Amino acid sequence: MGGDTHRPSELFGPYEVFETLGAGGMARVHRAKKIGIAGFTREVALKRLLSHLAVDRSFVEAFVREAKLAVRLRHPSIAHIYELGKVGDTYFISMEYVEGHDLRDVLRELARERQRMPIDVAIAILLELCDALDYAHTRTDDLTGEPLGIVHRDISPSNLVVTEGGHLKVIDFGIAKATPRELATQSGRLKGKFGYMSPEALRTQATDARSDLFSVGVVAHEMLTTRRLFGGNHTYDTLRRIHREEIPPPSAINPEVPAALDSAVLIALERDPDDRFQSAEEMRAALYRVALERSLAVTSDQVAAYLDDLMGEPVEIILEAAPADDEDDDWMFETDVESVPEIDPVEEPTLIEEAVVGAPPAPRPPAMVDLSHITPLERSALDALLEDEPSRP
Ligand SMILES: Nc1ncnc2c1ncn2[C@@H]1O[C@H](COP(=O)(O)OP(=O)(O)OP(=O)(O)O)[C@@H](O)[C@H]1O
Ligand SMILES: [Mg+2]
Repeated sequence: MGGDTHRPSELFGPYEVFETLGAGGMARVHRAKKIGIAGFTREVALKRLLSHLAVDRSFVEAFVREAKLAVRLRHPSIAHIYELGKVGDTYFISMEYVEGHDLRDVLRELARERQRMPIDVAIAILLELCDALDYAHTRTDDLTGEPLGIVHRDISPSNLVVTEGGHLKVIDFGIAKATPRELATQSGRLKGKFGYMSPEALRTQATDARSDLFSVGVVAHEMLTTRRLFGGNHTYDTLRRIHREEIPPPSAINPEVPAALDSAVLIALERDPDDRFQSAEEMRAALYRVALERSLAVTSDQVAAYLDDLMGEPVEIILEAAPADDEDDDWMFETDVESVPEIDPVEEPTLIEEAVVGAPPAPRPPAMVDLSHITPLERSALDALLEDEPSRP
């Protein structure tokens, strides 16, 4: 267990707060300890909602509603949510603290080392991911038997952690996610998330479990190629690629990828949800066939040993943005458009200009916008892509 010799940096309700694990556009995450009676402690990841989101009632309602569903998920490949609460004005979720490496860091390290993940390791991780999704997508209400309709909506490398034991854990299940409209007006960090969203999620049409499978397809493609598939410096470019650009089979970049795996990834990446795998179970079956074909025999110990070896050296954070057109650089992997190592929740975001997709509803404070690189033409195209957004469910 990490760093007990550290002194907590602060106290937050019943939690002692230790080092920062990461920061996204929505929250900041710390390792923390919940102090109980008689010296009982529990190590957790404490995710505190950024203050500007806490004043948005509809967001908070979604945050609470989804956490209430997610708390029911109990699966070895899903980080468990322990508690949802509020201390002062700050909403928080405490969840299982997962020791390991998130796939964003793994992919960056692979890019830095100019390496590719062994195909069998990628398949082993993807099988566990499909397993976790199948479980969550098919949960039903205990009393009524009705499907709960749980969709992750943010399957992306930063939410997939490979544990020290070599198993996958999906984090942030059921935590309310920013909508495309909010993403468009947010910092570069959050905009990096666009590159993993399905076309229907970007259009904010009703999404179902198949939307997660598209995201799995993107992650799988990137794991097999060490290259961003859709993400880039420019939001408009990312959106255009997701909607229209021809998707190369992973083997076009990494010749070691077998045809059956190419085909599984491309089916997951079908733009029309009806043409995709219809369930995580179906996708897992396809991957399983690939595994059988290869007589795959990767154990979790081997996955762990491989990652230990790869990640042994401290990861050097890549600060430069990827080139706008990374066609010439097969190895560039960069999830964030800009690096945001720390976000202070007490600091309100700076208003730069009015949001591109219309004024946000009160009482949300003015949105952050960094669309300096977007031309008026792209701006109207972006508007068109994001139009007709229904209100948050
Ligand atoms: N339960 C956890 N255990 C260990 N590390 C975690 C946990 N939750 C988050 N982290 C770390 O913190 C990082 C940032 O998490 P956070 O969810 O705030 O941002 P994100 O994943 O980039 O964005 P998103 O809001 O879309 O999930 C993760 O990538 C991961 O490395
Ligand atoms: Mg996350």
